[in-house]
Amino acid sequence: MTLADLSLKQYIAEQVKLVDADLDRLVPGENVEPRTIHKAMRYSLFAGGKRIRPLLCLEAARTAAGLEVEGALAVACTLEMIHTYSLIHDDLPALDNDDLRRGRPTSHKVFGEAMAILAGDALLTYAFDVLGQTGDARLVLELARASGTLGGMIAGQVHDMEGAAQPATEELLEKIHRAKTGALLRCSLRMGAIHAGAGETALEAISRYGGHIGLAFQIIDDILDVTQTSEQLGKTAGKDAEQNKVTFPAVYGLERSRQMAEDQRQQAHAALSGFGTGARRLRELADLIVDRTS
Ligand code: IPE
Ligand code: IPE
Ligand code: MG
Ligand code: MG
Ligand code: MG
Repeated sequence: MTLADLSLKQYIAEQVKLVDADLDRLVPGENVEPRTIHKAMRYSLFAGGKRIRPLLCLEAARTAAGLEVEGALAVACTLEMIHTYSLIHDDLPALDNDDLRRGRPTSHKVFGEAMAILAGDALLTYAFDVLGQTGDARLVLELARASGTLGGMIAGQVHDMEGAAQPATEELLEKIHRAKTGALLRCSLRMGAIHAGAGETALEAISRYGGHIGLAFQIIDDILDVTQTSEQLGKTAGKDAEQNKVTFPAVYGLERSRQMAEDQRQQAHAALSGFGTGARRLRELADLIVDRTS
């Protein structure tokens, strides 16, 4: 049975298993000194995230190359390291002050604030250690920029924090979402494609797809914050309104927000038209991002 024969659910389960095994290989064990930090890193890393960024990276590589690409798994894992670091820090008392993440108490609740900060720092540092070993500086730059302060994740987190005290405009909303979430998702796809040796046209199309699913992902995250329970989400529901965050439902209402996510889904599909059936899984992943309930 090849990967193509699997149902979407089976395919995802297979890919997640591979990602988890490689993360386990890449991150020092709990018994390695200093133990506390390795325990804290693993606590958040193996708490059951959806692994959507590594999945997108692997699938972009496959779509661009038309076959399995050697070394793509380690590249994919660096995205989960950065993402998990961003979640640990996002939950800190100084940021969103959250108690629940991936169905468990947040890192700072278990290990204390100092260790949670360091666990985030350590995951960030490891991502670049692993990426450095590929010897491909283009990948290092992609990840650094998508995570950074010029339109990247940290820029988005800054706009998100400062936005809570500002009038919620459409421009500010899109700026926050493209940066805090969209940049890393788009980067996941670009890194997979670059690692696979994609040509300019393919890379451009995959990036365009990434921009659309990146925005859709955070529109849906905002909607779920309003419509789901904490139990369903594995994180505290209703936080955004409580903290006066600039979100899609706050600016456009739920109905219009859903329609906008739908528009992004369609544009994401359209961006893949040149790949034909080779992009089937990327299309399915776009659908999953918009249709998900957690
Ligand atoms: C949550 O990301 C934070 C955002 C950037 C919206 P995910 O919904 O991918 O969280 P996990 O990795 O599955 O826990
Ligand atoms: C977080 O956005 C984006 C990150 C860079 C971590 P949110 O604050 O909406 O993420 P959740 O809802 O806590 O997962
Ligand atoms: Mg936040
Ligand atoms: Mg948050
Ligand atoms: Mg959210």
